[in-house]
Amino acid sequence: MTKFLNVALPKGRLGEKVYAMFERAGFECPSIKENNRKLVFENTEKAVRYFWVKPSDVAIYVERGAADVGVCGKDILLEYQPDVYELLDLKTGVCSMAVAGKKDFVDDRNKTLKVATKFTNIAKNYYSKLGRDIDIIHLNGSIELAPILGLSDVIVDIVETGTTLKENNLEVKEKFVPISARLIANKSSFKFKNQVIEKITKSLREQTDVL
Ligand code: PRP
Repeated sequence: MTKFLNVALPKGRLGEKVYAMFERAGFECPSIKENNRKLVFENTEKAVRYFWVKPSDVAIYVERGAADVGVCGKDILLEYQPDVYELLDLKTGVCSMAVAGKKDFVDDRNKTLKVATKFTNIAKNYYSKLGRDIDIIHLNGSIELAPILGLSDVIVDIVETGTTLKENNLEVKEKFVPISARLIANKSSFKFKNQVIEKITKSLREQTDVL
């Protein structure tokens, strides 16, 4: 029976870019390019199987061994601290974790700061280092709405091009962590499928070194 290497890719533009890197590493799977709603693709000859996973779920699949390796943002690793190996910075999907708010917002340190975010742990950690008292409001998306509607004073969120903030009359107050896509591995898979994982890591490293 073929011992497949199971790879969790983040669904979306980043995932397509990352798949192309795996393809260049010699782990192609042509059926993945067929335009359909399938989520699992395999190439028996190369013993590789790809899954399209919601980006924020990749680390869960890898941590629990449903996938041997995967690609996810550093934001997810910082937020959820999954028990996986972080093998490589793929130097793509580059953005920053930032505090943003209305242009005229002035922080009054005597008041508890209301912070809306998807990244509760990252935000708590950032403000605890500053010794700042905060009230966290956990949201699942469209975080930029919170300061506009007065739900929060600021947001902690990912900024890539800055377009979303600009179009909503918000601005970056501080960028505090650089983020990019990382290759991660399940700890036991790294031991038992070491050869193939090392081979992929090496090729991906060579590809990212020229970026
Ligand atoms: C992310 C992030 C910002 C936006 C930043 O949202 O939460 O809203 O991208 O990108 P930009 O600086 O290039 O404008 P995402 O698209 O993941 O959607 P969300 O609203 O569901 O968080």
